[in-house]
Amino acid sequence: MASAQLFLAAALAFIAAVDGAAPTAADVTKLRLSSGASMPVVGLGTWQVTQDQELEAALDAALAAGYRHIDTATIYRNEHLIGKVISRWLKEGRVKREDLFITTKLPVFGMRPADVPDFLNQSLAKLQLDYVDMYLIHMPFAVKREAYEDGRISADGTDTTTDHLAIWKAMEAEQKAGRARSLGVSNFNESQVEHLIKNAAVPPANLQIELHLYHQQKAIVDFCKKNNVAVTAYSPLGSPGSKWLSLISGKELPDLLSLPDVVEIAARHNKTAAQVVLRHTVQRGIIVIPKSSNPGRIQQNIDIFDFTLSDSEMAKLDALDKGLEGKLFDMKFIGGSERHPEYPWTALL
Ligand SMILES: NC(=O)c1ccc[n+]([C@@H]2O[C@H](COP(=O)([O-])OP(=O)(O)OC[C@H]3O[C@@H](n4cnc5c(N)ncnc54)[C@H](OP(=O)(O)O)[C@@H]3O)[C@@H](O)[C@H]2O)c1
Repeated sequence: MASAQLFLAAALAFIAAVDGAAPTAADVTKLRLSSGASMPVVGLGTWQVTQDQELEAALDAALAAGYRHIDTATIYRNEHLIGKVISRWLKEGRVKREDLFITTKLPVFGMRPADVPDFLNQSLAKLQLDYVDMYLIHMPFAVKREAYEDGRISADGTDTTTDHLAIWKAMEAEQKAGRARSLGVSNFNESQVEHLIKNAAVPPANLQIELHLYHQQKAIVDFCKKNNVAVTAYSPLGSPGSKWLSLISGKELPDLLSLPDVVEIAARHNKTAAQVVLRHTVQRGIIVIPKSSNPGRIQQNIDIFDFTLSDSEMAKLDALDKGLEGKLFDMKFIGGSERHPEYPWTALL
């Protein structure tokens, strides 16, 4: 068995088939975090869903399909809709709070220690929850609080006073108070994660980063595995809906779902290209949070636990990695980020 598969097998070791029944997706797909919590390996991404009704319908479809993990952020401005739908499911007794895994994120304009309780409380109120399962620092860099207004961040608002450890201490206080069960970071590079691991009382339990076939992030994934930090892949399908990105970057968006190797492997397993792409990442022991507003695709994206890619199929897909060249999101569209001392991808400057 290849090491990636061994890792997955270990990560899923507590699979429990209750009463001898075949395990469902909800049973088999959790990963144990250093915080002690269990995080579902497939979650629903919720960024860039433009219509309220569209998101509410997507959430209903996802919960009905067995999703229990939902990824949101202050900056997505949709926490109130997620709160509305999950509180309905909870009230109707269709799901239990302890079975849900809700992730939200401290925004880039909330990067001072005193901002942490403030923004987390705002998120909890919108989500109609007493606690979130995962609270992430969304970006390692920062803008001033007043640089954000009505969904827009001004380009001249960079706040260079950012102190990750001081912010993290405020995050730890929230965990202690029970408002965040697990803590993590997003878009941090290896040395930024290492800085927290070496100096904080509570190490980050999760790192959420861009990760897909063209940008497989092998080095930081290895680092995280060694240090017991679970990795979540954002944009796991290559974010095909982010057409605006090619307009501002001049780079063509990848079409990962049409790659001949992916199409061929999908046909062999009688699965879709998206299922193969997601399975490849999950089989590496990584959590995925694909976004979809289409009920059929929502269902498809969680139906990835009834097949296994062989070692040679994994190797074929591993070989498609383009490293940093395959990266889509440099976050330079967040005003002044590249001038910030904590901008994480200095090779892109
Ligand atoms: N931490 C961060 O900084 C950060 C950054 C980016 C994203 N994220 C998180 O990661 C989530 C996912 O990333 P993403 O939204 O950028 O990209 P993604 O999940 O890679 O791709 C989403 C796109 O793929 C389409 N799609 C979904 N399932 C499909 C399938 N089975 N077959 C064909 N197309 C499919 C969706 O269209 P339909 O809706 O029409 O199906 C949508 O256009 C976000 O929603 C967000 O929660 C976090």
